[in-house]
Amino acid sequence: KNPIALMGAMDEEVKLLLDEMDNTRSRKAAGIVYTEGRLLGQDVVVCRSGVGKVNAAATAQILVSEFHVQALIFTGVAGALHPQLEIGDIVISSESLQHDMDASPLGFAPGVIPFQEEFCFPADNRLIAKAKAACESERVDFRIGRILSGDRFVADRNEVRRLRDEFDGLCTEMEGAAVAQVCRMNGLPHVIIRSMSDKANGEAPGSFADFSITASARSYAIVVGMLEHW
Ligand code: ADE
Repeated sequence: KNPIALMGAMDEEVKLLLDEMDNTRSRKAAGIVYTEGRLLGQDVVVCRSGVGKVNAAATAQILVSEFHVQALIFTGVAGALHPQLEIGDIVISSESLQHDMDASPLGFAPGVIPFQEEFCFPADNRLIAKAKAACESERVDFRIGRILSGDRFVADRNEVRRLRDEFDGLCTEMEGAAVAQVCRMNGLPHVIIRSMSDKANGEAPGSFADFSITASARSYAIVVGMLEHW
């Protein structure tokens, strides 16, 4: 059976996964280290893409082309946009879009990728269901909905309002929709799991510093729950 890709952007988002893996071997491609091995009875490939959409897209494509993964789960932290999301809460992507894609001078709505039909990339229903079950058994508060991605750390309450009004996202981060797009281009099932490290407002830099490790651990726990019931 082909391995499951488990991907994060930062060290703290993948460290716990790497610590728990057995029979590991690592290989580098395009500067990114890919670690293959066993985790909770499954063959997995774990990697840290680095931050941002380009890193995320290149890494996801290598997971497809070189490691022939059967599915991709992204794990990490995000800034909450929805007013009822608290630090540590989980968002499971139903779909994701790139909020910094903007060809509006050409008459395209913000977020729309010109000359192509799909710009809001749906996650896989089976993986969404697994993530939901894991959240329920972990008893963490979670929501399933749209995740926004862009090459911008959002730390401004007016920007939060704009992102919510324009795109109706639950949370914002810097990789998910790029990964989702590459997965869709390759017909690979995926889901994005994000735990809230901050609320994308003026307090976000400090909140991110304080909570990104504990939020990463929350997201990790959901991935573990998914693998246990694979
Ligand atoms: N990741 C975690 N918090 C974030 C924020 N506020 N903006 C973008 N990415 C994030």
